[in-house]
Amino acid sequence: MNHSYSISEVANVFNITTNKIRYYEKKGLLKPLRDSNNEYRKFNDEDIMTLQLILLYRSIGLSISDIKDIIENKTNKNYLNHFNDQWEIVNDEIQRLTIVRDSLENILDKLYMKDECGLDSDILDVIKRANKISDVKNNWKDKWNFNDWAKNYDKAIVEDRGEVKIYKNYNLILDKVYNLASKNNKKGLKFLEIGVGTGNLSSKFLKNNCDIVGIDQSREMLRIAKKKYPKLKVRLGEFLKIPYSDKSFDIIVSTYAFHHLNENEKVIAIEEMIRVLKNDGKIIIGDLMFKDVDDKRFIFKSLTKGQIEEVEDEYYSNIDFLKMEFRRFDKNLSYERIDMFNYIIKII
Ligand SMILES: C[S@@+](CC[C@H](N)C(=O)[O-])C[C@H]1O[C@@H](n2cnc3c(N)ncnc32)[C@H](O)[C@@H]1O
Repeated sequence: MNHSYSISEVANVFNITTNKIRYYEKKGLLKPLRDSNNEYRKFNDEDIMTLQLILLYRSIGLSISDIKDIIENKTNKNYLNHFNDQWEIVNDEIQRLTIVRDSLENILDKLYMKDECGLDSDILDVIKRANKISDVKNNWKDKWNFNDWAKNYDKAIVEDRGEVKIYKNYNLILDKVYNLASKNNKKGLKFLEIGVGTGNLSSKFLKNNCDIVGIDQSREMLRIAKKKYPKLKVRLGEFLKIPYSDKSFDIIVSTYAFHHLNENEKVIAIEEMIRVLKNDGKIIIGDLMFKDVDDKRFIFKSLTKGQIEEVEDEYYSNIDFLKMEFRRFDKNLSYERIDMFNYIIKII
């Protein structure tokens, strides 16, 4: 039997004000019937369920317009869109607050250590550095449009139409990264793949029952990965803003993704990877690189103009530079060269 409740009864049940309920009604989220005699609102069981949903969605920060859209369009695709949006908003906020907290920590250290002279400029320096990091984190853009690429990505690997044939050893590289990452491992380790794309590398871990999550900044790539490997856990996430807490993973892997970050961005991405990596964890990356500046100069001499343009459209790493950056965290980098541009680096 369908019950009918007055607005004060409903407000009492949920411990909220009647004004709040009227507000949700005004925004079109609730549509209670009216009593034909006195025009009072009559809430039925369905309205109660809807209000419960509204309050739950509000508690995780969804906006009124998002909630309205979710209530009106209950498809999985629409849910995913909204909850992914919210996942991004929450993770961005965590990143922002973490930077602010780190700055305050730093400033307070300085204040407790020193007397008054020179403090203003020290404090300003800390804040300026924090703002710079935020800018780098927030200004990365997908200028290659991976969402458009996602559907045909696997075909593009096979066709390898580019001028520099970066995919000619694709399968070999993925196998090697998998083998290096899973060598001598204990049971129950946690793996993270960054730039999971259509899931080709992660699927090898999945097949061998490893606990892996793949993150990518492209929703379409994630959609295809999930279609190919329904059991694969995927999440939206970027190198520069990894959506996980400190020391969450034993092993981080990545292939063909790191070269979408310029050098400033790589510095922050390395900090992020180290942040989410456990102390004795390892990182294995297969990607496009040069050994050092001289190696790049030498190789460029043998390339055509078109090939150089293609290489320079992305940011192939310089291994010497990466070595130096990882050393700041007491990590050692070793590498294997696979072909002219493809290397596998191991960081332990
Ligand atoms: C060339 S595809 C490689 C995909 C897959 N790793 C593979 O080996 O086939 C590059 C992938 O990295 C992702 N990617 C690029 N820059 C990224 C970033 N800053 N954070 C997260 N993912 C990124 C892209 O969206 C894309 O899915």
